[in-house]
Amino acid sequence: MKKIVVLVSGNGSNLQSIIDACQQNRINGHISAVFSNNADAYGLQRAEQAGISAHFLDPKAYADRISYDIALLKAIDQYEPDLVVLAGYMRILSPDFVQHYQGRLLNIHPSLLPKYPGLHTHRKAIENGDKEHGTSIHFVTEELDGGPVILQAKVPIFEGDEEEDVISRIQTQEHTIYPLVIGWFLNGRLVMEGNTALIDGKVLPPQGYASE
Ligand code: GAR
Repeated sequence: MKKIVVLVSGNGSNLQSIIDACQQNRINGHISAVFSNNADAYGLQRAEQAGISAHFLDPKAYADRISYDIALLKAIDQYEPDLVVLAGYMRILSPDFVQHYQGRLLNIHPSLLPKYPGLHTHRKAIENGDKEHGTSIHFVTEELDGGPVILQAKVPIFEGDEEEDVISRIQTQEHTIYPLVIGWFLNGRLVMEGNTALIDGKVLPPQGYASE
């Protein structure tokens, strides 16, 4: 059985969608452990409720980012993961960490990348008068939110929408597409070569797998 390690910083609704997909055999693998940089992350409780090892690693206990990331990496590697999944992990990763997991490190970012890397994507989309917004799953590279896109989902932005409306619309999509992509990866259909994502041996276009 393929092994997944998930990193969270907050609510963990994406983690929950992955837990559910594993339990329902929609993903051919299981979550070995969940790690967080935030002691109060509800994602840690979700993991415990599902019988998954849940770990809080305190950034304040380390001198700098690199020493934290090396400790995190060593702790993760105890589980020998086939895939490391960032699910609302809100800490920038050092290049050493990213290189170590290159090709088996996925992130979900709430925008139609390359639009709106970084924070507050929903607010920016609303303030700019965008009519659509979305979310992207991508392989992680050293460029922040810059790795090759695997799959995107679009949602409309309606007149009068608040940030919370758009967040909830986006998260509904995320809970469907993240388990799907993780399933592709663990079934050996999805790989990263150089700075490109391939599915079934075919190079994915810059916006990822095209589906409406
Ligand atoms: C998700 O919407 C994800 O796209 C976003 O955080 C949320 C986490 O929600 N990720 C980022 O902003 C990463 N830059 P969750 O904790 O309920 O899964």
